[in-house]
Amino acid sequence: MDAAAEKLPTDLVENLPTDIENLPTNIENLPTNSKGELPVLSVRNLHVYYPVQGGLFKRKVGDVRAVNDVSFDLFKGETLGLVGESGCGKTTIAKAILNLVRTHSGEIYYGKKRIDDPGTIVIPNEKTFKIGRYRGYYAHGNYIFQRITDRFTKDLRQKIQIVFQDPDSSLNPRMKIVDIIGEPLRILKGIKKKSEIRRRVLELLEIVSLKVEHLDRFPHEFSGGQKQRIVIARALACDPEVLILDEPTSALDVSVQAQILNLLIDLQRRFNLAFLFITHDLSVIQHIGTRIAVMYLGKFAEIGTVDDIFHAPNHPYTKALLSARPMFDAELRKNRIILEGEIPSPQHPPPGCAFHPRCQEKGDHSTCNLEEPERIHLGGDHYTWCVPTGTSPKTFKGQEVIS
Ligand SMILES: Nc1ncnc2c1ncn2[C@@H]1O[C@H](COP(=O)(O)OP(=O)(O)OP(=O)(O)O)[C@@H](O)[C@H]1O
Ligand code: SF4
Ligand SMILES: [Mg+2]
Repeated sequence: MDAAAEKLPTDLVENLPTDIENLPTNIENLPTNSKGELPVLSVRNLHVYYPVQGGLFKRKVGDVRAVNDVSFDLFKGETLGLVGESGCGKTTIAKAILNLVRTHSGEIYYGKKRIDDPGTIVIPNEKTFKIGRYRGYYAHGNYIFQRITDRFTKDLRQKIQIVFQDPDSSLNPRMKIVDIIGEPLRILKGIKKKSEIRRRVLELLEIVSLKVEHLDRFPHEFSGGQKQRIVIARALACDPEVLILDEPTSALDVSVQAQILNLLIDLQRRFNLAFLFITHDLSVIQHIGTRIAVMYLGKFAEIGTVDDIFHAPNHPYTKALLSARPMFDAELRKNRIILEGEIPSPQHPPPGCAFHPRCQEKGDHSTCNLEEPERIHLGGDHYTWCVPTGTSPKTFKGQEVIS
């Protein structure tokens, strides 16, 4: 400890907020769904940057802005699809929710409980400190700093679970299925009795249509679809409320994909689960989704119900994504919107609207390369991020191709 450090007065520290739930938050005026329920998960102005190191001494030379000001709410019983090209930041949002990566700024709430790790909180104070320390606090000048970590408690790990794309890398090849699915029961639920774990694992296997003879097998003895069922059973072990599904069907062949999607729909109805469903396959999300958020280079481009996105897409990127789907009609195929150029680097995003170098509608507006797009309400739950309102109106050119 610094020799000059003074101990902060106990009465002062006792009156400081000791828990971030008591700190001022952004979470007022939460929306409700049609049943009047509050969201189970809320993300507000989330930014996640990955540091880029370079040079001889591996110093930080920049940031990959993987997620850049993303906000959304997820309600019980609904599926919010996150779609967008590879590298647009979908998995990073999932990792930030699960506290697997440090957020740069923004807030994440489970119900009304803040669950992200905001790092150091600065609390202004009237008293001036040279240097002061007390438990988790550090004071200097007119500021007291509090380091806050480990908000993602065991309870939360039970309530928010993830299913990754590749079941092979999610399952330990040296463990039997009973131990793989039993692990969260032991660690998170604290169940010790082997017979009880076995009984509960069997229940879970039956939920995902596997059988008692599968209990003592190893992962290599299963097909891809069965392995994904095992991963889903493990995710369900602790009665979660939110399931993050990161491309859960991309590694499977088409017939097995349909089985897993139907299983997920079934489970959602049965347990009233909220799904954050990450995919780049629009037909999958059309089948399973309630709402869809379209992402481009770390930001939302458009969010709306499945009907809004498929039948009244507004953002030029959404239109391009929809028109890139496989189509049988030769006439529609001829009129496809082909995006020019490559996705820009999230380390050096273009100024103004990040989509402007590739946008097929930028000619209709003069400020796309200068001004940040604004969120525009299109009615109901439908929003788009495009040129600021008040400039020339948007066209719907190209929409006839895809609706
Ligand atoms: N650990 C990391 N360090 C540095 N950059 C990273 C790291 N993880 C991801 N990125 C970068 O962050 C951006 C977003 O990555 P992310 O994995 O979230 O994309 P994604 O939308 O899930 O892509 P995909 O559809 O291919 O899975 C990418 O540009 C990626 O290169
Ligand atoms: S702001 Fe301009 S460049 Fe961006 S999506 Fe809208 S029209 Fe295209
Ligand atoms: Mg990903």
